[in-house]
Order: sequence, then structure tokens, then C-alpha cells
Amino acid sequence: MTATLFTDIGELVTNEPSLGDGSPLGLLRDAALVIEDGAVAWVGPAAEAPATDQRFDAESRAVVPGFVDSHTHLVFAGERSAEFAARMAGEPYTGGGIATTVGATRAAADAQLRAHTRGLFAETVSMGTTTVEIKSGYGLTVADEARILRIASEVTPETTFLGAHVVPPEYANDRAGYVALVCGEMLAACAPFARWVDAFCEVGAFDEDEARAVLTAGIAAGLMPRLHGNQLGLGPGVRLAVELGAASVDHCSYLSDEDVAALAGSGTVATLLPGADFSIRGPYPDARRLLDAGVDVAIATDCNPGTSFVTSMPLMIALAVREMRMTPGEALSAATRGGAKALRRDDIGRLGVGARADIVMLDAPSYVHLAYRPGAPVVGAVWRAGERSG
Ligand code: NIG
Ligand code: FE
Repeated sequence: MTATLFTDIGELVTNEPSLGDGSPLGLLRDAALVIEDGAVAWVGPAAEAPATDQRFDAESRAVVPGFVDSHTHLVFAGERSAEFAARMAGEPYTGGGIATTVGATRAAADAQLRAHTRGLFAETVSMGTTTVEIKSGYGLTVADEARILRIASEVTPETTFLGAHVVPPEYANDRAGYVALVCGEMLAACAPFARWVDAFCEVGAFDEDEARAVLTAGIAAGLMPRLHGNQLGLGPGVRLAVELGAASVDHCSYLSDEDVAALAGSGTVATLLPGADFSIRGPYPDARRLLDAGVDVAIATDCNPGTSFVTSMPLMIALAVREMRMTPGEALSAATRGGAKALRRDDIGRLGVGARADIVMLDAPSYVHLAYRPGAPVVGAVWRAGERSG
């Protein structure tokens, strides 16, 4: 098999503390990397690199691990720009707009949904995302949730059943009936296409008992739990996620001291979604408070047509640094290693020997430019499992 040498890397972030400068970023200067069979085969100083058949010269640019976007809702139809404009004029976000997207998604043909999803997926990759998680949740019927997950599973193995997104209009007078459907027939139809189970635990969506019932049923069906919680106010989401051993609790825009303490002693990652805080003009969580308490933090886009029509992980990094008190290094780590941890993956989010060759070359001398040059096309080239994209 052909090996390729990436050499003359001005600054290489490996996320392997045993490599390079000893920091958590495992940073090497004047570095090189060899990839073979879609994985990293060698990392070290450029001067010591082995000879290979193929060679790519980074011309002193920075190289970082591909971004892991561990929270998106990429499969949907339609858009809600009018709702966004109304919010920017002072309307609050209530989650009511989810029904609009559910209507558009149910009405869309498979080919239309598939083409839209692939377009958004290509957009994420062009901005450096090499692994993406995708949730259902805009179908809310047995057939529509299953087809959303089928389409999602064509582009990623990280698929999440979110039948418990909101109670659809036709069940407005029968919440218990809808929860029973989600835990029964809908779960059975969706589980073959899903790795994870999720619920939106929030006032206006599902309460603690309902969310517990859905996650417990998902676990019994062989799925692993994650949870939307504490997005619009304080609530039981974080506690419930920790109680159920969820890989991640996502949003965390409102956190009590007890929530932070519960996360600190747990294996649950706090996934922060600054695109949603931006787009609903909500408060950004204080990531410093979580990091200083020893909590594992990830950042992700939450790409969806309502609260965060965003595919750019570099923008999430910039917002995390400017608005959430993370250092540029912490934000990059949260967008790579943190996302991998939130998906319980060890083969991605790092560039050590054996890791998947998910590589982002920046058009910049340092990873700091991801936060320092918001809006600029800092991502220069992307490789997924050793294959160049775009
Ligand atoms: O993660 N919080 C719940 N669900 C999505 C938003 C859904 C929508 O408004 O369409 C989110 O923010
Ligand atoms: Fe979400």
C-alpha cells in the first residue's frame, strides 16, 4: 500500500500529550506525518521522516486533526430565515418552529432529503469536519424517523434516534401515547439505523420522566444514550444524563453548581453549542467554569434550520474563545478530541500513530488563526481517512 509523507508542517497539533511539547495539544514544530491505509503510521520531526512513495509539502503551514462535529440535525427540508429575523427583532425562541421543519421534512421526497443532506455534509467537510453525528427528529412518525436515519446513515455511522424531539401536533392531546410510540414501534423501526438515542429534555419538549423512559428504552434496544439538556433554562437534563451514563449532555447553556459537580465526577461530556446560543441570542455558557472543575468539554455546531443553521466548526472555535472563555488551544481540543470523546471514539480527534488519517491543513502558520481570523477561509485542505476531499 502507498504511504504518503506530509512534510514541512510548520506546526502540527496531534492531541497526543506524549508527543511534542508535552502540552495536551501535543504540538510539534517543523514536523512530518506519514499516512498509510487511511491511518497515521508515523509522526515526528521533519528531519527524521522516513522515505515514502508520495509526498505532500505543507510549506510551513499548520496541520490539525479533522474536526469532530458531535451534534447536528443535518437531515431536514425547508428553512426558517423569517423565524431567525423575528428573533433578531426581539421574539423569543420557544421550540415552536420545530413543527414547521417537521411539516417540510415529511413532505419532502427521499431524493430531495438525500440531496439536501449530502449538500450540507459536503459543506461541513469543506470547513474541516471529518466526522459528523446526525440526529433524526424532524419526522416524528415511525416511517419518517426511520427514513431520516436511513439517509443519515448513508453519510455517517454516528446516527442518533431523536424521536423525542417534540410531541408532534397530531399527539398534542396524547403525550403519553406519543412517548409510548417512541419507546415502542418507532424505536424498533429506527434502531437498525442508529447508534445513539437522544431526547430533548426541556420545558416545552419532554420532562425528566419522559426523557428517562425514552433513553432507557433506547438502551434496552442496544443504543447508547446522549441528551439535549439545559438549553433554555436550568433543569434536570444534566443530572439525568449523568444518572444514565450518557456519553454527552448537549447545550448546557444554563448550569447550577450541582450540575457542574455532577459532570465533574462523571464520564459524561458537556457538549457546548455556541451556534445555538448565537442564533437564539441566548447566554453563552462559561466553559471556564466547566474546565476548571475538570469536566470534559466538546463543542459542536448543532446544525439545524431553527436554532443554528451553521456548519462551520472554525466559527464554533472562535465563539468558544471569544464568548465562553476558552483558550484557542482548549477550543481546538474541544472541537476534535472533545467531540471524539462525546462519541466514545478513540480513533479520531487525534493524529497519533494508529489514528484515522483525518487531517486538516490550515492556510495559516498556527492553529490560533482558527479563532484569530473568524470568517476567513482558514481551512486550506482536508483529508478523510487519508483521502483528500474537495
Ligand atoms: O438542538 N433543542 C432542540 N432542538 C434543536 C433545535 C430544533 C429547531 O428549532 O428546529 C437544537 O437546538
Ligand atoms: Fe440539537
